[in-house]
Amino acid sequence: MITTAPRGTQDVLPQESYKWHFIEGKLMDLARRYGFSEVRTPTFEHTGLFDRGVGDTTDIVQKEMYTFTDKGGRSITLRPEGTAGVARCVLEHGLLNNPLPLKLSYLINCFRYEKPQAGRFREFRQFGAEVFGSQDPAVDAEVIALVADIFTTLGISDIALELNSIGCPHCRPAYHEKLRAYFAQHIDSLCPTCRERLEKNPLRILDCKNDSCKEVAKGAPLGIDNLCDECADHFASLKERLTAMGIPFTVNPQIVRGLDYYTKTVFEFVSTSIGAQGTVCGGGRYDGLLETLGGPSTPAIGFAVGLQRLLAVMEQDGASLGAPPACDIFLASIGQSASVEAQKLALRLRRAGLHAESDVQGRSLKAQMKYADKLGARYTVVLGDDEVKTGQIKLKRMDDGQVEETTLEALPALLCEK
Ligand code: HAM
Repeated sequence: MITTAPRGTQDVLPQESYKWHFIEGKLMDLARRYGFSEVRTPTFEHTGLFDRGVGDTTDIVQKEMYTFTDKGGRSITLRPEGTAGVARCVLEHGLLNNPLPLKLSYLINCFRYEKPQAGRFREFRQFGAEVFGSQDPAVDAEVIALVADIFTTLGISDIALELNSIGCPHCRPAYHEKLRAYFAQHIDSLCPTCRERLEKNPLRILDCKNDSCKEVAKGAPLGIDNLCDECADHFASLKERLTAMGIPFTVNPQIVRGLDYYTKTVFEFVSTSIGAQGTVCGGGRYDGLLETLGGPSTPAIGFAVGLQRLLAVMEQDGASLGAPPACDIFLASIGQSASVEAQKLALRLRRAGLHAESDVQGRSLKAQMKYADKLGARYTVVLGDDEVKTGQIKLKRMDDGQVEETTLEALPALLCEK
């Protein structure tokens, strides 16, 4: 018998699922207010999309992808993130022909073969949003404002915005040279993967999880000190807009992000209340990605919030997560014809939008009432031969025992008002 789920995966149990509905409902509503439309892309893509899009020197591509060959001999990968798939979808369907900026949001499961620990899973859920077609820092500010609003709306206060700029193809080559020169002096302390990265993409060494590499990275030259004028102006304008909107931030020059597509703005929202995996949201600008994938040069920016981490912060902060759905009414019955009547009535009540239950187990009246109690039913009615004959019933409110006389006919409308 197989009775355990694979390591790093999670079951959302029935008594917990309302929390997910609550959070996801709020996220989609906020995204709508900011003008985003939902896009749904496949759970798996051609492996090449991530090799090229996320970058073949990243930890994600080198170590963490769930890649397999399908029965047709194609290399397929379960998506480790959402941006590359959304960018592919935008190009495939010509969505850039719509009025720009194009704003897309998504709720997805992602897959990364990482070492599971608190807040780090092999299958996890993300809410993400992407804006295509504007390089103006006003868009960066708007996207960040959406994330800030998400946390405020969900009642999270223990979260801080950290901001950085990692430059563009104009300023990066000179910065990479500086990094290469620095890391070459410390090559003996680098892990084998980072030694390989030194030539191809030294920026990735700044993001390595290996302790020795992390130590060396602390002394490395900073991207923010090596920006071209355009990137520096862009970053200054973004900071000015965030300040004007009253969105607090700190500049953290150490943020480089774990994906290769980023240019200019990068940001993270970090919480201190859920342990080591405190980054609840990560995002940034990726002005080169669409071109890398074979499309037209198109500026873009986006973010993704990890929902397991978001839920953990909310639980830690005691934020409201809605309430489990309650049963509106339990229709108890005595005897066969009353049981049939109760089931018919349940049907009418459900069609009127209520959560109604009747006995479908042939239980005794006492057992039915016990069950109604366990369900947390707000009201109960007991149907016997008399009630079926006369249509007169007694509606009992369970929290205080108050009884109201009504009729079978009037019950759906009466309950809908309550
Ligand atoms: P990311 O930083 O790799 O960025 O992931 C975004 C968020 O997903 C993280 O901040 C974290 O909350 C959550 N997350 C990542 N890995 C795990 C994991 N193993 N277990 C649980 N949660 C996890 C991206 O994915 C980019 N696509 C974001 C983006 C969109 N950038 C631009 N547009």
